[in-house]
Amino acid sequence: MWKRAPFSLTRYPKNVKVLVIGGGGREHALAWRLARGASITRVYVTPGNPGMANVAECVPLENATPEEYLGLAERLGVDFTVVGPEAPLVAGVVDLFRQCGKPIVGPTKAAANLEGSKVFSKEIMNSAGIPTARYTIAESEAEALAALPRFELPVVLKADGLAAGKGVIVAKTRDEASDGVRALFSGQLAGDAGRVVVIEDFLPGREVSFIVLTDGETVVPLAPTQDHKAVHDGDEGPNTGGMGAFCADNILTGAETQEVLDRVIAPTIRAMAQRGTPFSGFLYAGLMMTEKGIQVLEFNARLGDPECQTLMHRMNSDWGAVLYRAATGRLAGVTIGWDAAPSVCVVAAAHGYPGQVRTGDSISGVRDAEAGGAVVFQAGTRLNAQGGLVTAGGRVLGVTASGVDLRAAMNRAYLGMEQIRFEGIHFRRDIGAKGLARRPV
Ligand code: AMP
Ligand code: GLY
Repeated sequence: MWKRAPFSLTRYPKNVKVLVIGGGGREHALAWRLARGASITRVYVTPGNPGMANVAECVPLENATPEEYLGLAERLGVDFTVVGPEAPLVAGVVDLFRQCGKPIVGPTKAAANLEGSKVFSKEIMNSAGIPTARYTIAESEAEALAALPRFELPVVLKADGLAAGKGVIVAKTRDEASDGVRALFSGQLAGDAGRVVVIEDFLPGREVSFIVLTDGETVVPLAPTQDHKAVHDGDEGPNTGGMGAFCADNILTGAETQEVLDRVIAPTIRAMAQRGTPFSGFLYAGLMMTEKGIQVLEFNARLGDPECQTLMHRMNSDWGAVLYRAATGRLAGVTIGWDAAPSVCVVAAAHGYPGQVRTGDSISGVRDAEAGGAVVFQAGTRLNAQGGLVTAGGRVLGVTASGVDLRAAMNRAYLGMEQIRFEGIHFRRDIGAKGLARRPV
């Protein structure tokens, strides 16, 4: 554990400045919420994106090293730093900040391995008795092909390493499974991340993203959310990083939430501490609610994207104060408040996503969408030489809104989406629909 500074609310520093690392929709939402909190006077984001300009100051720094992030935090004189994406975590940015006594929200490199290696996360789950799909590990194509007949269809193949949501194949036929094995081991699908592959049973059920904020001891749960990973309506087509999400009270019952905390989150935090690699920051359990109970599909070491957009939209706490306490190991006693109104985020993706993406298409309608009551969190956008907003990545932006009920939140988000225009735009039309089918709580 890192050394703790004594903390009390009266010692909360004045004029707090925060640095957010990242440049996607998740970081736009984080910056937007931080800027609204009473305790933050300045929000910096690196590298940020054009959508954040009115809530934060963007500082360009692409794919920086931990040392470069530290140098930036020192130059800006920030009080603490929040890490959005997984790559800087796996590179050890939190380890370096802690060594230098700089408060930061996120797990160390060793703890981020819960996301960085599917093999490691499976081992942790097995050793801590956390419910998860039966699996085997294959280190060569031949080993994987030999293991496949031991699994029924559909079967799930997962690249061990980080693959931006694209390293998982759900194969419905034997041919798809063996083609998937070849695509992973050839490096074609997920590069080096696919040189080791987890093969596991397919679990049918309802997916839930369960994210907590922890300082290694105290766990503060965020509201459960639901992502939509497949590119097309009705969960058809290949997996993406997430095409939309919603946050509503009927995703889990109180009893289910307690069960996740007791059977998944607490044993994971305990197992990581026992290994000498305590987990701090955002722990994201990707759950499948099956007929046989709760199962864990995966862990992430960060907030989900686009889950974060719905969480930030719905939260009504002073987020800066909460994160400062997380960064300084003082989460005890913290709770987070949520508006009663559910929130929905619908992602607009670029031509070709999740395959080869075309960039440079002109975007219009952001202001009109916001005039209708939605918030547009930008992700894959940039300004061209003429100052016009153009596409610059696969997931371009997320139109986010809330409403008196889930239907109203969906209507408002889709009304906003109708205003957004760019060549090749595609988005799912059924984000939130699964929540409508569930009973209210
Ligand atoms: P992961 O990166 O492990 O969350 O996998 C990406 C997506 O693949 C998940 O969000 C699920 O939609 C799907 N998936 C992963 N593992 C399984 C499984 N064992 N059974 C069913 N679907 C799965
Ligand atoms: N939306 C899923 C993720 O962030 O991994």
